[in-house]
Amino acid sequence: MPSEDAPSLRTRRLRIIESGESASEPPNAFALAVRAGLRSDPKTLPCRYFYDEQGSRLFEQICDLPEYYLTRTEDSILLDHAHTMVAGWIDAPVMVELGSGSSSKTRRLILAALQTYRSLQYVPIDVSKTILEESAEALVEEFPRLQVTGFAANYRDALAGVVERFDRPKLFVFLGSSLGNYEPDQAVDLLSLIARSMDPSDRLLLGTDLDKDPKILEAAYDDAQGVTARFNLNLLERINRELGGNFAVERFEHQARYRNDLHRVEMHLVSREDQEVVIPGAGLTVKFSEGESIHSENSHKYNPAILDELGNRSGFIEEDAWTDADHRFRVQRWRSRSGQSSHSRTEV
Ligand code: TRP
Repeated sequence: MPSEDAPSLRTRRLRIIESGESASEPPNAFALAVRAGLRSDPKTLPCRYFYDEQGSRLFEQICDLPEYYLTRTEDSILLDHAHTMVAGWIDAPVMVELGSGSSSKTRRLILAALQTYRSLQYVPIDVSKTILEESAEALVEEFPRLQVTGFAANYRDALAGVVERFDRPKLFVFLGSSLGNYEPDQAVDLLSLIARSMDPSDRLLLGTDLDKDPKILEAAYDDAQGVTARFNLNLLERINRELGGNFAVERFEHQARYRNDLHRVEMHLVSREDQEVVIPGAGLTVKFSEGESIHSENSHKYNPAILDELGNRSGFIEEDAWTDADHRFRVQRWRSRSGQSSHSRTEV
């Protein structure tokens, strides 16, 4: 609980905890990442830097695009099954969401939990403290029986903090096919970390996009209005804003490429000409040849067999799974295979 004098009812139901790296991420982290990515071959930029204020706003717009079926489809699955997804405990489990963003995806689960149980402790985890505060305030305002404890931190630090603070059954929630933005080995690392944070009575709800017609997939990441293009190009603009770079963004083209062999859509920024870019804040001058790309993001697509293998490798057993009528998206409820005791959890 915060220690201010006479906190209002609302503020007593809301606290934000900053922990670990994100609170102390060195101010030059972005510069170092840009330098490393643009000096490597092929060139890359880390996708976690998409989400500055401008990028977060564009991402919200992506979720509403006609081509971007993911958000809508996942939401329809949650609408149909939220009550089953949150059921199974005597008292409400602590609902821990990884990458909560604006928390819009989770609204249906929160509602269903509040209809099932007397009250709910919701623990959103996000790197952006501003977004956490905004969404947490709106939520406690809207739901009188809801408590929100937000963690502004990376997943590893936040999960350690959650396990330490909440000694009660938990429902972990990881939606939006965010898992798909990790390479398979990294996805297994992250899932294993979650599994090790879980007791036998805990569950994970995981939302994943399914493999499908490449035309549908590529359109979802290259929409007619060009919002996704602006989202991708915003990385270059951010380099200009924060590191004094001189990218002329019209000299780069956004591309979404479906890779059948790797089950993923790749996002690229392709140089339209031979050019040189100076980025003083990263101590860098970079040459691009015509057609050369910066690989900025992957979005992996799944099927039940791949998901089963990921779950197996990470220490999970599937308990239940739901999909939409067109099998575009899948939400699964997993439990951890071993479900360690609280004594051995400190290794997380
Ligand atoms: N994880 C989601 C997806 O892969 C959201 C997302 C991340 C996204 N980066 C994106 C969507 C870039 C569009 C463009 O679909």
